[in-house]
Amino acid sequence: MSFILEAKNLKKSFDGVVALSDANFTLNQGEICGLVGANGSGKTTFARIISGLIRPDSGLLYLYGSQIHLKSHLEAEKLEISMVHQNLSLIPEMTVWENINLGREFTTSLGILKKEEALIKASQALQELKVNISLYDKVSQLAPSEKQLLEIVKALSRHPKILILDEPTASLGFKQVEILFEKLNQLKKDRVSVIFISHRIWEITKICDRLVVFRNGKTVGEVDFHQQPRDEKLIIPLITGKKENEKEKSIHEKRPFRNFDTHQTILEVDNLSKKEKLYNISFKIRKGEIVGLGGLNGQGQEEILLILSGYLKKTSGKIMLNNKEVLIKNPSQAIERGIFLVPGDRQKEGLFLNHNVFTNLIYPQVALKKQKFLLPLNALFQTVSTAIQTVSLVPPDPRKLVSHLSGGNQQKVVIGKWLSLSPKILLLNDPTKGVDVETRRNLYKIIADLSNQGVSVLLYASDNEELIANCDRVLIVFEGQIVEEICGDDICEENLIACSLRVQ
Ligand SMILES: Nc1ncnc2c1ncn2[C@@H]1O[C@H](COP(=O)(O)OP(=O)(O)O)[C@@H](O)[C@H]1O
Ligand SMILES: [Mg+2]
Repeated sequence: MSFILEAKNLKKSFDGVVALSDANFTLNQGEICGLVGANGSGKTTFARIISGLIRPDSGLLYLYGSQIHLKSHLEAEKLEISMVHQNLSLIPEMTVWENINLGREFTTSLGILKKEEALIKASQALQELKVNISLYDKVSQLAPSEKQLLEIVKALSRHPKILILDEPTASLGFKQVEILFEKLNQLKKDRVSVIFISHRIWEITKICDRLVVFRNGKTVGEVDFHQQPRDEKLIIPLITGKKENEKEKSIHEKRPFRNFDTHQTILEVDNLSKKEKLYNISFKIRKGEIVGLGGLNGQGQEEILLILSGYLKKTSGKIMLNNKEVLIKNPSQAIERGIFLVPGDRQKEGLFLNHNVFTNLIYPQVALKKQKFLLPLNALFQTVSTAIQTVSLVPPDPRKLVSHLSGGNQQKVVIGKWLSLSPKILLLNDPTKGVDVETRRNLYKIIADLSNQGVSVLLYASDNEELIANCDRVLIVFEGQIVEEICGDDICEENLIACSLRVQ
């Protein structure tokens, strides 16, 4: 059988950083092939080569059995290859319909835009994925999940023969993922071939026919689900390169039950409301407790975190720390009180990407220092080295530019920078979104260690598995209200989904 696409011995380096050292890949017609690997294993680089955005240093690429040399993205599009980009390829200042049609303007032979045709096409494309946004909205105004869906719609509207999806589900809720999967299955029936990149192994085992594993830029394994079971346990050792250890706990193993009823209440939120977003939110968090915010995406969970961290103003309600009402009108007031946010978009909000690890880690200390004197350098070095160790940064190098770190390690820097300021409450906004299995494990351990040291944690996660693995208690948010509280052993996938969907 000949492959629709085949890549042999692809190599690619960026200024000495090896992204791919020996990537091999095959794709059959009408199959969904997963591509997995830790952060930095070369998946995106591979996808960009296949879609003509970058050229490999060496290696061979075949399409329908013939060798091809993709010189540009346009050339790949002509060969009916489309890609859904991990970092999205939308233009924020343009509208939804303009973005969908970007790069293939509907023009007459005289160069006049056939706007009506473009609008109809865009509207059809949105409907196909049941995306409920206006054609005239500016992309910058859309929610992250809407942007992601639009990015998918844009790729689909090109009716590709080969569709590459680079972590398309990271910011989607599970209902949206279901719609996407329905669409992918339909594409499969239409003999379209799909490369599906995801960190969510359960998505891979659900949707894919086969999967290929990359490790450090090399193809290290393949699992064909027609012959092998759809089992996470087979895949994770391939990704990590470690032999499955019987005793090693699954990262999604449930946190053992801990009862905090008699512990000191650190944070109390009483009847918190935000116009059109949140209604009478009340809850308590006790010292060292890890409380989750669950529910479908976009039900107000992020707004709760943003109000508590001073980025968003509440309309009414009280916030109490150690039984005393406090005002949190801006982020500095939250920070002064030991409440720190690890933001959702770490690249935009949490880091100075063009600075090194050292600068990022000492920034809060320096910024909070009221007097103008510099802090003693050796104390700063000590802070940085402790933080690097605590979060197990890879590589443990303070001189490394943050933009050169993998997503998971960038996230570790965001958490690390708060550690020197002795956090009382850590607010985590979907901290492992787009982070590989190994780094997730590290982050879960950091969360557990902090909790054992008495830090209270409020965690919003778009993955139910993450709530199960970390939380002592989960509050389900639905349309701006807390509709359910799940504790201890009741925190399981079925309960979380049932409560999120409001089914009993
Ligand atoms: N444009 C680039 N410049 C420098 N290094 C890069 C660039 N793109 C990727 N890399 C590096 O190549 C490696 C593979 O990255 P990537 O393909 O993004 O991996 P993945 O998608 O599996 O997380 C990483 O070490 C990354 O830092
Ligand atoms: Mg990637």
